[in-house]
Amino acid sequence: MAERKRLIIANWKMHFTTHEASLFVHKIEKKITAHPDVEIVLAPSFLALPSLSMQIDHHKFRLCAQDFYWRDEGSYTGEVSAHQLRGLVSYALVGHSERRHTFHETARDIRNKVQAALRNDIQPVLCVGETAHERTVGETNAVIHDQLTAGLANVTSEDIERIVIAYEPVWAIGTGESAPPYDIQLAVRAIRSQVKHLFGATAARSIRVLYGGSVTSDTAAEYLAVPGIDGLLVGGTSLVGEQFTSIVSKASPASKRS
Ligand code: PGA
Repeated sequence: MAERKRLIIANWKMHFTTHEASLFVHKIEKKITAHPDVEIVLAPSFLALPSLSMQIDHHKFRLCAQDFYWRDEGSYTGEVSAHQLRGLVSYALVGHSERRHTFHETARDIRNKVQAALRNDIQPVLCVGETAHERTVGETNAVIHDQLTAGLANVTSEDIERIVIAYEPVWAIGTGESAPPYDIQLAVRAIRSQVKHLFGATAARSIRVLYGGSVTSDTAAEYLAVPGIDGLLVGGTSLVGEQFTSIVSKASPASKRS
């Protein structure tokens, strides 16, 4: 079984103009060179994707779309399809809680997006996680179960290893609230056990699972140490150069050895 390479995704959300995105990458690029053992993925706005694709060293960075529409083409004013992103991005977020809650994406949309990403050679990063209320009433595992079952419904056993799962408790996103590492461990266990149930033990061992929700350079190491976690999906902190490069260096197995 291939080793699960660490993965750090910077989700810039609706921040940075194209020019600012370019300056930011220029600034962090040198520091990133030292960490070839961590996959570093940038998720800028759609607008910045083409110029960053020309600018970045593709050995150091990969690109990720924050969203897309699941049909390949057609009369869908304002939308961008996975087909149009093909070749430009390696990854795409699917089912981020801001898409689920602010833009009312349904389980069907999310399932279709997972399929659209896969058929266009883009690795979907399927985001799952419970709200504060669901957590309070003890429904975390049920939510994870339902979101995974719906999102992975049409995925084949060949394709499952191309998918990344991000556990992102909704109440911890952008709030500064830290999820306790043990809770994350339980959630990751629930995720792998559901993947095992759906696709078998090998898939459950090979799939990469990330944590996301108010990660900072101070908390990154603790989250990365949670058994079963392979990386981080970082929002707000990924907009601050020194903090982001510090998170990357904490994720590097080589830097741990040195
Ligand atoms: P945050 O965002 O790090 O700002 O909480 C994480 C995310 O939305 O992916």
